[in-house]
Amino acid sequence: MSDKTMTLIDNRTGEKYEYPILEGTRGPAAVDMRSFYKDSGMFSYDPGFTSTASCKSEITFINGEKGELRYRGLPIEELATGHSYLEVCHLLLEGELPTEEQLQNLDLELRHRAFLPEGLVRLSQTIPDDAHPMSVMSAGVTALSAFYYEHLKLETPEDYREMAHRIIAKMPTLAAFAYRHSIGATYIYPDIDRSFTENFLYMLRAYPGGKMHRDPDGHREIKPIEVEALDTIFTLHADHEQNASTTVVRSVASTGAHPYVAISSGISALWGRAHGGANESVIEQLRMIGSVENVDKYIARAKDPNDPFRLMGFGHRVYKNFDPRARILKKLQDQLRDELNLDTELMRIAQRIEEIALSDEYFIQRKLYPNIDFYSGIILTALGLPRSMFTPIFVIGRTVGWIAQWIEFKKDKESKIARPRQLYVGK
Ligand code: ACO
Repeated sequence: MSDKTMTLIDNRTGEKYEYPILEGTRGPAAVDMRSFYKDSGMFSYDPGFTSTASCKSEITFINGEKGELRYRGLPIEELATGHSYLEVCHLLLEGELPTEEQLQNLDLELRHRAFLPEGLVRLSQTIPDDAHPMSVMSAGVTALSAFYYEHLKLETPEDYREMAHRIIAKMPTLAAFAYRHSIGATYIYPDIDRSFTENFLYMLRAYPGGKMHRDPDGHREIKPIEVEALDTIFTLHADHEQNASTTVVRSVASTGAHPYVAISSGISALWGRAHGGANESVIEQLRMIGSVENVDKYIARAKDPNDPFRLMGFGHRVYKNFDPRARILKKLQDQLRDELNLDTELMRIAQRIEEIALSDEYFIQRKLYPNIDFYSGIILTALGLPRSMFTPIFVIGRTVGWIAQWIEFKKDKESKIARPRQLYVGK
């Protein structure tokens, strides 16, 4: 018997089942259970897929115990500090960092593709003014599939590239329009003289006609440090392996639906408070806590098993150590503190929560560390970005990851329609 197999024994009957062990290039091996039902007539039971590898992937690697994250083999620390978000987009889509020429081409292409079809602009204006920008984004991306329906036929690598670039380029515009719609402001169209990240801030902040006056709190003018910080935030959100929204994107991809519909489903999944919506909830919660003196009371609530209250921005399904993205953002937050008008009371509350949680037995035992959302909300607040835009900003960064995963799924000869089974316990 090969030593690269695992044998399962049904202790009721003594029946043995042998399965190959598949080894990856990094991380835990996986037992190939694909024939388990056929062999045994039983299912494996794994709610939330905590022990299930749903695919093979070459895109992102996470070691949750060590707090390690890599895109295409490169550590996130190197990418976040030494490369731009557009370089990371190229890396995720093409597998390699771009040459200077490839980067220029990508930059130029994204600038030119940033405009939305006018029909979509009009459609977005029909949505109620007080809608959350995330609902406009989800609806807007679904609508994009109507405007680019003919692109359902993806045959050549160029077709895939065009589809990917189009949606990545339009996402900041859609997000900015969604925000401006929610505050009743005129839309500001993309300015192709501006880079991807700067353009997003411009579309959010400019006055009608595209003027960039300085407002009383100085937030209108776009400072290079703000562009850099937001670019880093996009990079840190760019992909994260088979998380809930990516799993949704792959599941929708598995049905053969249009790629933009799959991305729209990812947006909907990301909105939830247990996933991308947590960054908005972190700030809500810090404001609710109100002052450093109240922190202990809320920590006690988070620890009380009879209280549903949870510390937002703490804990992660995979990281049982400091989220490496949170580490980078914590440093960024400290750098920004002196240069931007930070809400210091929020920062003090956050710091106190972090200190207590990192030394409290409840959090230590459960390996609950700050995650990316704990700091991203504070930094985005410092950049003068409204709370309702936190999750849309996550969407902008993550779109490239969803597309890379969508393409990988389509090219994977072993991929199948997502169709889990169940343990029926009803009448
Ligand atoms: N505050 C207090 N207790 C917590 C928290 C928290 N934030 N997170 C988990 N716990 C406790 C649970 O109550 C549970 O305790 P128990 O064993 O005594 O019952 C234990 O830790 C394990 O929690 P699970 O919910 O089983 O962990 P799971 O891996 O399923 O959940 C999740 C991970 C959803 C992220 C969870 O930690 C959470 O709700 N955190 C707050 C929301 C958040 O920050 N989400 C962002 C995640 S990062 C991202 O999506 C980009």
